[in-house]
Amino acid sequence: MNRNLALEFVRVTELAAIASARWMGRGDEKSADQAAVDAMRKMLDTVSCEATVVIGEGERDEAPMLYIGEKVGAGEGPQLEIALDPLEGTTICANGGHNAISVMAIGQKDKLLHAPDIYMKKIAVGPQGVGAIDINDTPTNNLKRLAQRKLCSLSDLTVIILDRPRHEDLIREVRETGARIHLIGDGDVSAAIATALPDTGIDMLLGIGGAPEGVIAAAAMRCIKGDFQGVLVPRNDEDVERAKKMGIEDIDKVFTMNELASGPVMFVATGVTDGSLLKGVQFKSWGAVTHSLVMRSKSGTIRTIEAQHHFDRKPVY
Ligand code: FBP
Repeated sequence: MNRNLALEFVRVTELAAIASARWMGRGDEKSADQAAVDAMRKMLDTVSCEATVVIGEGERDEAPMLYIGEKVGAGEGPQLEIALDPLEGTTICANGGHNAISVMAIGQKDKLLHAPDIYMKKIAVGPQGVGAIDINDTPTNNLKRLAQRKLCSLSDLTVIILDRPRHEDLIREVRETGARIHLIGDGDVSAAIATALPDTGIDMLLGIGGAPEGVIAAAAMRCIKGDFQGVLVPRNDEDVERAKKMGIEDIDKVFTMNELASGPVMFVATGVTDGSLLKGVQFKSWGAVTHSLVMRSKSGTIRTIEAQHHFDRKPVY
């Protein structure tokens, strides 16, 4: 994959972020998401590639745009697969909360797991925790091993967890270890990445979130040399069938980050609302300022890009 493609892709998340940021705090999740989808779809066709959406807005019959299997890109260039979420944290954006992002992971053909839209149990840590996690082990043991690696005590660690009733037991156990908890309303992609970046104060992600978000997070964790594991959590037979339809026979399989996103991958994200990873879109009289993260697994370069978009020389979003 040509490294310059990463810069072409960041234009896509920039545009989607600008479009959805217009809806920040307006209490309208649907319009915020639609704005991001429309902008991302439009911009993707300017990128020199032949890409297929493998993680997108849903099945073809339920999503008119950016559906799974949709062909995007300018039609010439490398054959790629894209896992995307035009607005990760729709509710966050609608409420004007923290950490809504527009995000894409890009891999070569047949290298990203075609994950069903069901739940996934996840664990993520930064570079110091690589090899120290086991999703089938208890949260307590995982935290103890991470504390050993980080040469700190359990009470120095902070775990980020989605604030959901399903996590009641998990939260209780983590509290019993003495570790601190950062509960979030939404957005476990940026939560996973936060474990691997300095200065976020987050050491581990635990809990159940969306499986599609798991693939996107795994791609990011590969670029950033953290660690990530996921196991599908079907709620019923229908979920099991959905997984089988996507070619996953062993429903209890532990997916490593390399199995979720293999080969060379790129990750791009632009902040929609302010967050610990990225600042949100700021609108000015002349346009907008965006903040993005661009990473490639091959080089491991983590690039942050601040861009000033002048609307008098660009289409109005
Ligand atoms: P959206 O982008 O669809 O708003 O998803 C936000 C999110 O919080 C994800 O980050 C997370 O993986 C998932 O939803 C959790 O699902 P649920 O809200 O059903 O617990």
